[in-house]
Amino acid sequence: MFVFCKSMIKREIIIAIDGHSSTGKSTFAKAIASKFGLIYVDTGALYRGVTLTAVREGITSFDNPSNKGQLEALLSNTDLIFKPSGKDGASELWLNGENIEREIRTLEVSGMVSIFASMPIVRNYVDSILKEYGKRRGVVMDGRDIGTVVFPDADLKIFMTADPRIRAQRRYQEMISRGEKADYQEVLDNVNERDFMDENREAAPLKRADDALFLDNSNMTHEDQMVWIEMILAQKWGYR
Ligand code: DC
Repeated sequence: MFVFCKSMIKREIIIAIDGHSSTGKSTFAKAIASKFGLIYVDTGALYRGVTLTAVREGITSFDNPSNKGQLEALLSNTDLIFKPSGKDGASELWLNGENIEREIRTLEVSGMVSIFASMPIVRNYVDSILKEYGKRRGVVMDGRDIGTVVFPDADLKIFMTADPRIRAQRRYQEMISRGEKADYQEVLDNVNERDFMDENREAAPLKRADDALFLDNSNMTHEDQMVWIEMILAQKWGYR
């Protein structure tokens, strides 16, 4: 029997992980990347990076049609790249030479990013960056449309979800443990609102690709999920 080794997985595959917000996609994707020697690409970070760039230039809505042209011009001069952070193989997002990893996680950016992610010009811009990463292969990407739009031929597609109340509870706990003020009902409303926006926007809405494996982690620990993926990679590519 021919057994593939880690480095063969590394060269060959693209893993696309899509799903609802706050399902732990990025934690899962990072753990897979680190375990199997793949490159992790956080596609949501790029939408956040575009949002930060636009907000800094005073573009906060598209009620005024000239804002679209302004954004298009801005994107043609915007260079967003991931660079290794030096910690656990993780990477950080840089904008025109500035590390913006922290800025893209602020409430201001989080509150505005869905508007930008719904704009076709923004999606085309981000997709072109993602396709460059895909050419190198050996990548794990998480997002909303990776297996449906960006890499419809990905070798492995996973669609992640969890009960909205459990996702809200996890986010609420994270906020409390960071010492932030949080209201569970508000967090739950936000989870439901984001699901609605992701699933109902016109451009590349969130949906499960027909050939995506379904992972509902409502009642799974991180370890359970790793056992699940290791079994799949072993079955599909003979990884032991
Ligand atoms: O996963 P996240 O919260 O960092 O994503 C930020 C935003 O970008 C969120 O509104 C969903 C959107 N997004 C998207 O539309 N397509 C992707 N491939 C990734 C994220």
